[in-house]
Amino acid sequence: MTKDILILAIETSCDETAAAVVKNGREVLSNIIYSQIELHKIYGGVVPEIASRKHIEKINHVIEAALSEAGVTLDDINAIGVTYGPGLVGALLVGVAEAKAISFARNIPLVGVHHIEGHICANYIENKELAPPFLCLVVSGGHTHLVMAKDYGEYEIIGRTRDDAAGEAFDKVARALGLGYPGGPKIDKLSREGDRTAVVFPRAQIEGAPYDFSFSGLKSAVLNHLNSCEMKNEPVNKADIAASFQEAVIDVLVSKAIAAAIEYKIDKLALAGGVAANSSLRNSMAAACRSNKLKFFYPSPVLCTDNAAMIGTAAYYEYIKGRRAGLDLNAVPNLRIGER
Ligand code: KG4
Ligand code: ZN
Repeated sequence: MTKDILILAIETSCDETAAAVVKNGREVLSNIIYSQIELHKIYGGVVPEIASRKHIEKINHVIEAALSEAGVTLDDINAIGVTYGPGLVGALLVGVAEAKAISFARNIPLVGVHHIEGHICANYIENKELAPPFLCLVVSGGHTHLVMAKDYGEYEIIGRTRDDAAGEAFDKVARALGLGYPGGPKIDKLSREGDRTAVVFPRAQIEGAPYDFSFSGLKSAVLNHLNSCEMKNEPVNKADIAASFQEAVIDVLVSKAIAAAIEYKIDKLALAGGVAANSSLRNSMAAACRSNKLKFFYPSPVLCTDNAAMIGTAAYYEYIKGRRAGLDLNAVPNLRIGER
């Protein structure tokens, strides 16, 4: 019998202080998330300085809770996986410094994890049969990428956003509609009461780059629409605008992801990142995958938004490949996928 491999994972790239214990890559023994959303809400977005300070305050408690809920101690841990980029530098540094300190003090190997690769690996947790290669649409607050997961720990970017990330567009439009932060879940909910055909917002195509995205024009179109309603003293139906905006985002995401899967002759498509929690995106992508005979995978909402379980899964596959980080591991705020 082979010995189990236990990873203690740490994630502090943005506004969630998170730690998890993951067994053999796909079995989550604990997944503790301290969300700072309530703290940042009043500012309408994440305040980096506040995020770093709160991470420092919470990190030890979150790690202790993750170990205790998993019923293990540091003596049982084979490696520590930590997000070292991309993200807010001060926030990342808290997790990286903590992971290095534990690694040094207890002589436990250290593995550096790319945050987006973590989001992609969230798909492995509940879909035990999923194995590379597969295409993954990563849609979060800071990133929108179409990524080919060629093998465990091997990724290639097929397309990316030229400006705003999908989640950023959700957050900005929600702000303009006065819905508060974070905007994605609010727009998701309000859209259910609206007519998605009420306003036709633009779907951006980029010449020569069929799998790249652009959402800043769409965001401006929504703002212009709201301004023009105000100038003309016309009533604004927020639910209709939310639903029409959401439809424009989903339309572009689904059509590009399906077209890429077909061109790259890949029969598995996965979603990842905070926006992957969006109910309409999941439904539209599921329907499009069915009609194109593609297998469709997506994580539960709690594994779509930032968490450490996904970092533990990504770290496991790095660990078994023999990849290790040294005590000189640093936070890399603009770390690219596949870069090491
Ligand atoms: O992956 P994540 O937790 O953090 C980053 O790595 O960026 O993603 C957060 C983003 C936010 O922009 C939030 O508005 C969006 O995910 N989001 C959603 C939903 N839930 C979270 N967007 C659309 N619909 C949702 N249900
Ligand atoms: Zn994220």
